[in-house]
Amino acid sequence: MAGIDSESELLSQAREVMDRAYAPYSGFRVGAALEAADGRVFLGCNVENASYPVGTCAERVALGHAVASGARAFRRVAVASSGDRPASPCGMCRQALSEFGVDLEILSVAAGGEVRRWSLADLLPADFRLDEADPAGVARRGG
Ligand code: THU
Repeated sequence: MAGIDSESELLSQAREVMDRAYAPYSGFRVGAALEAADGRVFLGCNVENASYPVGTCAERVALGHAVASGARAFRRVAVASSGDRPASPCGMCRQALSEFGVDLEILSVAAGGEVRRWSLADLLPADFRLDEADPAGVARRGG
């Protein structure tokens, strides 16, 4: 996938993949566009299931795409949702993203176009790590 520069392009990729969300149970559609340090962008949408807890969030679908493609360092993630307010990533997604570093900008756009920004470090100030002495984590060293 080609790299992109602007914030609005990343947000529109998130909006585009949101339209492919499978959310028949909640009706809440989410798309995520995760930008890697090398400029590649990986997309995800929420995928719900009749067995509700089996459903997956957009952010973790995007992260899975990225890691399976060899990306482990990320700059930004844009989230688009069908909600009235910009959605912040849920706790599970914050922890999942933090595995690869909390120096990640999060942009979120609501259905009406309102945009909010956070850093992952602010949203998850004490992420869980197996090795507290190595805050960079084993994941980025090839574990
Ligand atoms: N959802 C996401 O995809 N990302 C989040 O960060 C929060 C919630 C999804 C899960 C479920 O399919 C729907 O939104 C309603 O919770």
